[in-house]
Amino acid sequence: MVMFGVTGDLARKKLLPAIYDLANRGRLPEGFSLVGFGRRDWSDAEFCAEVLKHVQAGNRTGFNQDTWDRLAGGLRFVSADGFDNETAYARLGTVLAELADERGTESNHAFYLSIPPNSFEMVCQKLASHGLARRSELPEDPWSRVIIEKPFGHDLESAQELNREVESVFAQDEVFRIDHYLGKETVQNLLALRFANRFFEPLWNNQHVDHVQITMAEDIGIGGRASYYDGVGAARDVIQNHLLQLLALTAMEEPISFDADHLRREKEKVLEAVVVPEDLEAASARGQYTAGQQNGEDVVGFLQEEGFDPGSTTETYAAFRLGIKTRRWDGVPFYLRSGKRLGRRVTEIAVVFKRAPNLLFTDTDEEHFGQNSLIIRIQPDEGATLRLTSKVPGTQMDVRDVDMDFSYGRSFTEESPEAYERLILDVLLGEPPLFPRHREVELSWQILDPFIERWEALEEQPEPYAPGTWGPESAHRLMARDGRSWRTP
Ligand code: BG6
Repeated sequence: MVMFGVTGDLARKKLLPAIYDLANRGRLPEGFSLVGFGRRDWSDAEFCAEVLKHVQAGNRTGFNQDTWDRLAGGLRFVSADGFDNETAYARLGTVLAELADERGTESNHAFYLSIPPNSFEMVCQKLASHGLARRSELPEDPWSRVIIEKPFGHDLESAQELNREVESVFAQDEVFRIDHYLGKETVQNLLALRFANRFFEPLWNNQHVDHVQITMAEDIGIGGRASYYDGVGAARDVIQNHLLQLLALTAMEEPISFDADHLRREKEKVLEAVVVPEDLEAASARGQYTAGQQNGEDVVGFLQEEGFDPGSTTETYAAFRLGIKTRRWDGVPFYLRSGKRLGRRVTEIAVVFKRAPNLLFTDTDEEHFGQNSLIIRIQPDEGATLRLTSKVPGTQMDVRDVDMDFSYGRSFTEESPEAYERLILDVLLGEPPLFPRHREVELSWQILDPFIERWEALEEQPEPYAPGTWGPESAHRLMARDGRSWRTP
């Protein structure tokens, strides 16, 4: 694997520890080698010391000297003062040829571009012109794969351009787009919950489902990430990718198999059927967190965070109502929301069912009484909750909503691998199901573009909300207009 951007935050915190953990679990081939490509003037030994530091800080499987020694034997560094440096690519070619001889890598190469997207084209072109990104003609030929990280563009047009650039060098099935949510155990479990059980599927439609809420809430602010986040905002950062992927997995039809083609085709069909309401204002909300208190500590507001333009109109909270025009989902709203500095860190999908007909139990003040819901807890406290109604013990026929709970911690002794472990392994194995293909990315932009264009045309400040709350008032009004309310996770 050749890693561009190996000194970046993502590589240090996630990718390097994930590679070590894979090695430690015995999942990497003997000859696995990692070449860092970057601006530093490091020798291989200095690179090794750097990687060791991050592996020791971030690994999840415990530090094992033997594993480390094996991994360290395959670490190399190629110093480049820019992504256009011809000499550095020539040197990379030499290093890769040496590794093929010394470690038996068989010239199979995965190029991980953990770098800003405006450099993707340059790197791909240089790899091609130096003969490093060779397309394989026969199954036994060495393979070249490229891994790219979001943002995959900032709107439909730029995403199409980016796709064209990358796919002018790498074939479609050699491009692995990382959406790390798809590497999460609980997200993959959505498929098992829906398609390995009998009792959800008959109810999974507009006859029985009232609406669906998909929430991704974080309690952290955006301090330190201004260069990435300013001008991007919550909708582009996480709704275009993570939340729309969750929507697709929740709403799609059963695929013929879990092969990449079958799975992606079903997700694409759902994304294609998403309808954006005509009244964009009524169907969306956005906000920016202010200064205040969170978890008992004083925190600064978004506009005072270091590196941001004090007049920035970037949203740190976004919510949308979408529809899906299929026989299964017509009339069922899907509400999506995400924000920074909200009440707590939680990602969940709540499928809220219609009330039972002819309810005999009218003597209750509970607001959602009789409205069953299935809450799939993506993180933390991974698991699922079925909310149902039960009789309260006593001599009277009082009823109350109660929870039936499944939790990973209680049901399994196995530990969930970190999302990046799974995804990196899949790239090496050439298993593409968990990677969105370009059509999915483009469809997601097509859904969000009208909302974002409207916001940008307004040139207004997003509505303020206090840290530790559940977002701006307009988000609550969005639900109230439909006679519903957000869950407090
Ligand atoms: C990333 C976003 O994709 O996901 C970040 O760019 C966000 O803004 C992060 O903080 C959250 O990931 P997770 O796995 O902690 O939910």
